[in-house]
Amino acid sequence: MAARQKILIDCDPGHDDAVAILFAARHMDLVGVTSVHGNNSLENTTRNALAVVEMGKLDVPVAKGCAEPLAQEPVGIAAMHGKSGLDGAEIAEPTRRVIDTHAVDFIIAMAEQHKEELILATIGPETNIAMALRREPRLKNWIREITVMGGSTTLGNITPVAEFNIFADVEAAWAVYESGIPLRMVGYNVTRQTGFDQGDIDRMRGSGKKVAGVLADLMAFYLEKQRQGYGLTVAPMHDVCAIVPYVDDSLIDYLHTSARIELNGTYTRGMTVCDLRNLKSVAATNMRNATAPNALVAVNARSRALIDRVVDTLLTYD
Ligand code: RIB
Ligand code: CA
Repeated sequence: MAARQKILIDCDPGHDDAVAILFAARHMDLVGVTSVHGNNSLENTTRNALAVVEMGKLDVPVAKGCAEPLAQEPVGIAAMHGKSGLDGAEIAEPTRRVIDTHAVDFIIAMAEQHKEELILATIGPETNIAMALRREPRLKNWIREITVMGGSTTLGNITPVAEFNIFADVEAAWAVYESGIPLRMVGYNVTRQTGFDQGDIDRMRGSGKKVAGVLADLMAFYLEKQRQGYGLTVAPMHDVCAIVPYVDDSLIDYLHTSARIELNGTYTRGMTVCDLRNLKSVAATNMRNATAPNALVAVNARSRALIDRVVDTLLTYD
């Protein structure tokens, strides 16, 4: 059996972050989890990360990261996830504690220890990743791929064109997208339609398993918030979409193209400008703003099959 791929998840739990952690832990060698500000305060996202790792009985270190974006005002907590950042279920206060190492240093240490093997998943604002890139430029040679839940090839969620993780720290996202490290991006264009419906929630609750029962309560809360906010009929599982391709590469389709971060637009700051024109060499000479491809950009997903795979995995927890 092939060795499990090594992954480190940087996150802001967050209902969908929780699912991404539990899914990754079952299929990959999850070497660590790092917390960052985003859906809620760093204190809450860190506590939530510890609670999820403890709930899943995962032997995975958690390191605490950055509390604020690099160069902008914080965008404020995401109501979609509630006051705690993980509202909707009774979750015991974690007994586990974070490791002494700061998340930025932990990311660097894991990349050095697992040179050219480590997949770095960023499923929250990219502040920790950007700080690590500045602190240790050799990361560009050590990290195998950065898998991003962020951006969109079409509409945004926090603005008409910007997705939350990018918008919450635009300069950090710019540093990551311009780093030269191979990127795999799944954006809101795919993730908004890839989520748990009521049937999935009922399936988890009906399993009689403790973890699945807690997740069912969490997702019922999140589904209602998404219905109220956007009229969605699913609780979008944005973050696990950044993990799935390493487990089953048949579920999401990607285009290798350029994805650039808009830093300055009055209406477009935080937009991921993805070139979907599929320019051929002849046309490219007359077109504008064609830049070198820097990412595999998700353009389509077999959402129902993906979610079935995720629910099957979550049901393996007691
Ligand atoms: O826009 C969706 C992203 O923002 C997800 O990562 C969700 O957890 C929130 O962080
Ligand atoms: Ca997240």
